[in-house]
Amino acid sequence: MSEILRVEDVEKYYGNKGNLTKALNHISFTVDSGEFVGVMGASGSGKTTLLNCISTIDTVTNGRIFIGGDNITSLKPRQLSKFRREQLGFIFQDFNLLDTLTAYENIALALTILKRSPKEIERKVDAVARQLDITGVLKKYPYQMSGGQKQRVASARAIVTDPALVLADEPTGALDSKSAQMLLESFETLNKTLGATIMMVTHDAFTASYCHRILFIKDGKLFHELIRGTDTRKQFFDKIIEVVSLLGGDNRDVI
Ligand SMILES: Nc1ncnc2c1ncn2[C@@H]1O[C@H](COP(=O)(O)OP(=O)(O)O)[C@@H](O)[C@H]1O
Ligand SMILES: [Mg+2]
Repeated sequence: MSEILRVEDVEKYYGNKGNLTKALNHISFTVDSGEFVGVMGASGSGKTTLLNCISTIDTVTNGRIFIGGDNITSLKPRQLSKFRREQLGFIFQDFNLLDTLTAYENIALALTILKRSPKEIERKVDAVARQLDITGVLKKYPYQMSGGQKQRVASARAIVTDPALVLADEPTGALDSKSAQMLLESFETLNKTLGATIMMVTHDAFTASYCHRILFIKDGKLFHELIRGTDTRKQFFDKIIEVVSLLGGDNRDVI
């Protein structure tokens, strides 16, 4: 498999000399195309900072990040917005759907911005809607949909442009357990059927157990890595819980 993401000795500091937070402290790892990777760690360990640096929303203090071979840490603002539109998909905790657009329009918007033809847009939206089982809600507005449907529409929107990498920060954080499970099943569809490479931040072991590999971070450093391999989800879940307890700190915060 080919490498899609390379995080190379990245540091991110917030604040100034007298009051410095090392949110990321010499972190390095790679992600291959087609992987479904989770990032876990206690609150304040640097998960969101890491995702924001990868998604080019935030800039690194030191180190380099490559996505699909491009060094994103050296792109100029205009190149960055183009890069984000073309190469990245985002799934936010609060869905971020536009209330005045239907599900179809929400999904189609990213393709419209990329100036794709109406025919191609229709074909792509219909195909992704079928895969995620939301064909029946395409004409509905967000207020007419359940939480699980909104999250699947948000997943469809993230994947419809065929991004190199889909990024999700605590995507199940606002969902009840049934909707969370449905969302994670759609992530599996995105990953297995549609070939999406996904990187998902979560502090929840159940959510993480859907991943193939988990990076654990502690105080902005890579602390441990778990690979699911041939484990069942339950076996993987148990291993995750073990590492989480090793991570120490406030366990309630992680589990
Ligand atoms: N914009 C910011 N300004 C200053 N400190 C920040 C900022 N964002 C995050 N931090 C600090 O960086 C550390 C990591 O935060 P974050 O990445 O949000 O952690 P997590 O997502 O794992 O909970 C924390 O100590 C946090 O207080
Ligand atoms: Mg966070």
